Amino acid sequence: MGMRTKTILCIGAGYVGGPTMAMVARQCPEYRVLVVDVDAARVHAWQSGEPPIYEPGLKELVAVSLNRNLFFSTDVAAGIAEADIIFVSVNTPTKTFGRGAGRAADLQYWEKTARQILAHARRDVIVVEKSTLPVRTAEAMERILRDSPADVGFEVLSNPEFLAEGTAVRDLENPDRVLIGGHDSASGRRAIEALIEIYAHWVPRERILTTNVWSSELSKLAANAFLAQRISSINSLSAICEATEANISEVSRAIGMDSRIGPRFLNASVGFGGSCFKKDILNLVYLCDHYGLGEVARYWEQVVLMNEYQEDRFVRKIVATMFNTVAGKRIAIFGASFKADTGDIRESPALRVCHALIEERAIVVVTDPQGLLNARRELAIYGDRVLFEDDPYAAACGAHAIALVTEWESFRTLDYQRIYAKMEKPAFVFDGRNCLDHAALYALGFNVLPVGQKSLIHQ
Ligand code: NAD
Ligand code: UDX
Repeated sequence: MGMRTKTILCIGAGYVGGPTMAMVARQCPEYRVLVVDVDAARVHAWQSGEPPIYEPGLKELVAVSLNRNLFFSTDVAAGIAEADIIFVSVNTPTKTFGRGAGRAADLQYWEKTARQILAHARRDVIVVEKSTLPVRTAEAMERILRDSPADVGFEVLSNPEFLAEGTAVRDLENPDRVLIGGHDSASGRRAIEALIEIYAHWVPRERILTTNVWSSELSKLAANAFLAQRISSINSLSAICEATEANISEVSRAIGMDSRIGPRFLNASVGFGGSCFKKDILNLVYLCDHYGLGEVARYWEQVVLMNEYQEDRFVRKIVATMFNTVAGKRIAIFGASFKADTGDIRESPALRVCHALIEERAIVVVTDPQGLLNARRELAIYGDRVLFEDDPYAAACGAHAIALVTEWESFRTLDYQRIYAKMEKPAFVFDGRNCLDHAALYALGFNVLPVGQKSLIHQ
């Protein structure tokens, strides 16, 4: 008699659940991997082999295992009933209502899954928190699950995800570390071992870190806070650069060569976006306030405030440079997604730049290789005050300015001479990512305004 095939279930087929389980399925062919979601359109997209999100290499990764040992379904209850290990990867956005609105994590989706697990689990199960959650959330999960009527045993682990969008497949394949938080009890240690066994299929053991549950939960918030803090730090310095003719790229390079500081995440920009940084820092801030740690809360809050300042500064510069009015002027926005190589526009600086320019009554034309569909949906409220173009040349045609807000490689290699010829004069480029060749653009006739670097203006 053969061993029963173990089933790994993931609740939530989003940016994290889908790619993570596709990687687990490929690396662990002896497990059956099932991903469930209440969003039927998303599930159908995964089932069809055309992932609902754009991520380099993802389609190929899914194709390896789809319908072999990787399955997608909307039947959450049936999935739970057959699972041995359940990853919970539902969304945990910032609360928009009630106490903690604008800061605390909205745990309603997460708690709903806890109750579904309780209702439908038929055998002892390990519940893995994959979602990013406030510290001590696992405790709430444990309390809900403790009342199991079916006498099912539950062990809760924290296993936060560190993948970045745009590089998700690479990050999952070769993670810097895998973090597992569990309880120091016999069943806690058994559960940790069961999860290690999965990751050890492809992650070297020395990169699999085990901690207590609360350290694991906090480490996720802390890692994002540190990364975002670096960006806000360099962006704060970019403002000094613009005032003094120091050059932020030179400063980044100079400080990044200090091996204690390191070179990554020091690119000045229009600001950081994405569904995680702001949400997780605000969550941390809320937590600090909750524990009466006001100074700590204010310290981290400043990272978010600095980011808003940077976005605001970018728009103010556009308006000021264009003779203090953009009303009725066409402005091409190069980029909608929050970073290159993703179609995700959540908290994208592009959106806030669009909102602000529309307020100023500019005619905004957005172009993006992957994020346009999402941008259309998000900006629909503005009706015909915002336009969308697949083709960046068409977007820039007749424009007074280009505001580059996402660092897509394809924007670097456009024929800017051709673009310049079709623009209103004087033509401006605001490079919110410092990713274009400024001297070359200036030579073509553009007025060029980078971040944290000297503006190149034709007199
Ligand atoms: P997402 O919104 O893309 O996906 C979440 C999915 O969960 C949605 O498709 C939603 O329909 C589904 N869902 C919600 N409630 C459900 C329920 N009761 N039953 C079944 N499905 C349900 O979110 P995401 O970006 O994948 O993020 C998920 C979690 O991972 C969040 O906590 C986030 O903070 C964390 N995280 C995200 C990233 C990232 O890069 N996006 C990275 C690390 C961690
Ligand atoms: C982040 C974390 O990196 C990842 O570990 C976590 O799991 C989820 O949150 P993500 O938001 O997908 O990932 O992308 P990331 O590469 O961190 O970029 C976030 C934002 O910061 C983007 O808008 C990016 O353009 C911006 N950024 C990044 C900068 O402005 N400058 C930099 O030097 C780096």
